[in-house]
Amino acid sequence: MERPAWAPQGIDLSVPSVSRMYDFYLGGSHNFEVDREAARKAMEFLPGLPKIMQANRAFMRRAVRYAVDSGIDQFLDIGSGIPTFGNVHEVAQAADPDAKVVYVDHDPVAVAHSQAVLDGDDRAVIAAADLRRPKEILDHPEITGLLDLDRPVALLLVAVLHFIEDADDPRGAVAELREALAPGSLIVLTHASYEGIPRSREEAAGTVGVYEDIRNPLVMRSREEIGEFFEGCTMVEPGLVAMPEWRPDTPQSPAQEDPYAFSGFAGVGRKA
Ligand SMILES: C[S@@+](CC[C@H](N)C(=O)[O-])C[C@H]1O[C@@H](n2cnc3c(N)ncnc32)[C@H](O)[C@@H]1O
Repeated sequence: MERPAWAPQGIDLSVPSVSRMYDFYLGGSHNFEVDREAARKAMEFLPGLPKIMQANRAFMRRAVRYAVDSGIDQFLDIGSGIPTFGNVHEVAQAADPDAKVVYVDHDPVAVAHSQAVLDGDDRAVIAAADLRRPKEILDHPEITGLLDLDRPVALLLVAVLHFIEDADDPRGAVAELREALAPGSLIVLTHASYEGIPRSREEAAGTVGVYEDIRNPLVMRSREEIGEFFEGCTMVEPGLVAMPEWRPDTPQSPAQEDPYAFSGFAGVGRKA
């Protein structure tokens, strides 16, 4: 297959990537047939997957606006993905032109496309790094150069922790990042779960199987397990809830949401 200009050299075009599959669910154009095939297979079990992703993005944008309204002007977005509509730096800088954003992802297409989108913006950068090695993130020159960790930061872990298996100690990684943040920092996260999915567990397990097949397991966690990522934090109201239930823009909107949007959990915690 021919490599398009936006795809960096050296990536294996025969293996689906979760980043490019996510781009496909959201209607983006930075994906290959191999990604679309895997995403379509996942959607055979859960046809509403794109609705989940849209609810995830909508939550993320509300949480970024909440952070800016709370006086936060620095964002560390880990597992940031391929830029799409309403990215963190756009939402944050629309509310506060001085807001600084560091994106982090380990996917080469996400990194390359982010570099292209952020070219010329001296307050938003992308660092290629892995959430499983938090020290590398904290020591990364893009982060130490742009963010002041002595002041509060919003740490975004949106739709990424469910790609970290227990063997890779996601709680330890989040704890190490949290330790490095100033009091008053926010942890913003969403996480997949069997809870809330409007289909049987067997159907949802079919989707999980597709991610297993592409050797990028999707780890479903319970609400209780997801709550453990917020150790040392006070939950911002309304706590750990379904995505549309977290501070909806209008009181009516949750009821109008697609049932799939209530899959999994979203929450924001404030470091004490
Ligand atoms: C589903 S996308 C979420 C993108 C964005 N956070 C959002 O919610 O719209 C998950 C992203 O996490 C990235 N990711 C997965 N595991 C990672 C890891 N260990 N380190 C860094 N990024 C990771 C993937 O490459 C992908 O871009």
